[in-house]
Amino acid sequence: MSALFQPFTLKDVTLRNRIAIPPMCQYMSNDGIINDWHQVHYAAQARGGAGLIVVEATAVAPEGRITPGCAGLWNDEQAQALSQVAKAIKAAGCVPGIQIAHAGRKASANRPWEGDDHIPENDPRGWPTIAPSAVAFGEGLPKVPQAMTLEDIARVRQNFVDAARRAYEAGFEWLELHFAHGYLAQSFFSEHANQRTDQYGGSAENRGRFLLETMAAVREVWPERLPFTARFGVIEFDGRDEQTLSESIELVKGFKRTGLDLISVSMGFNTPTAQIPWGPAFMGPIAERVRREVGIPVTSAWGFGAPKLAEQALTSGQLDIVSVGRAYLANPHWTYVAAKELGIEQPAWTLPASYAHWLSRYKEL
Ligand SMILES: Cc1cc2nc3c(=O)[nH]c(=O)nc-3n(C[C@H](O)[C@H](O)[C@H](O)COP(=O)(O)O)c2cc1C
Repeated sequence: MSALFQPFTLKDVTLRNRIAIPPMCQYMSNDGIINDWHQVHYAAQARGGAGLIVVEATAVAPEGRITPGCAGLWNDEQAQALSQVAKAIKAAGCVPGIQIAHAGRKASANRPWEGDDHIPENDPRGWPTIAPSAVAFGEGLPKVPQAMTLEDIARVRQNFVDAARRAYEAGFEWLELHFAHGYLAQSFFSEHANQRTDQYGGSAENRGRFLLETMAAVREVWPERLPFTARFGVIEFDGRDEQTLSESIELVKGFKRTGLDLISVSMGFNTPTAQIPWGPAFMGPIAERVRREVGIPVTSAWGFGAPKLAEQALTSGQLDIVSVGRAYLANPHWTYVAAKELGIEQPAWTLPASYAHWLSRYKEL
């Protein structure tokens, strides 16, 4: 029996298999409010048979959106719209998760297909950005953010708490804090971005403080019985990798003590000069190290879209759940493709009966 199609239980939630669709921004919201696009997109993926969908990076405050088209969860109207997506995902037998986020110094950007760069300073579509220090990311993201005051730090922490509460009320059963990819929380931990001299900068302990404090505050409002997770970049590929990895692993141990149930192991993306060794499943060994040294369930993404690679990541003990992103954009029924390739006896039955009944009769499909 394939490992990919074994159920996975975390707290009171059981995934029907070990396939997660990781957060993927759609950049299709208005004023942070998702719409029919998202409804169809997520319902199709959920019907496609994944065990978990983590809805895209959803900003906890207006200035925390990456682009003007990003989803938000700083008001009840946004929560109401998201509740329809949570309901549709659940109705299809999939667990509805959501990633809550603040983009920090990478905010106020154009959609990827419209440049992926900062909106120019004098353009009314843009907004001022905030970050640990007044240091720009660079290259296409040259905007210099405002260094956050202690009041700003307390406010954003509360924004995360409020968004988590709304996510729960909207029906989400799996929370992921976005502490990765060079956005606000990740940038606090990075010496590329954080040059503070107060208790939030300097030593690894100080650079981890914003993340741990935010996590602890959210832990207070997110129900104990539901999975509480984070995505975190543990490596930068900037030539200082062993130091970053060991500091990150210490921080993930702190996350675990704070009550984190699972970590999605990713990259830092804090500098445009990183030399990332892109390739199939290349994050697998790094995720395995975090899993082993911290003793916490992990997932990871980046190139697990070939079913046999996904299966191997589980059987070799690298991951507990495999995250498959772009392959689901190519085919929301990727689960069926994987089931066939892995020799599952009745692969069509990874899909709803109204598809499966017919597909199971046509073996050539
Ligand atoms: C369109 C798109 C949007 C993405 N948005 C997010 C996001 O909102 N949050 C996040 O943590 N990662 C985001 N990512 C990264 C994915 O979650 C995933 O890590 C990446 O696609 C690599 O996995 P894959 O090789 O299976 O596609 C995005 C990726 C894509 C392609």
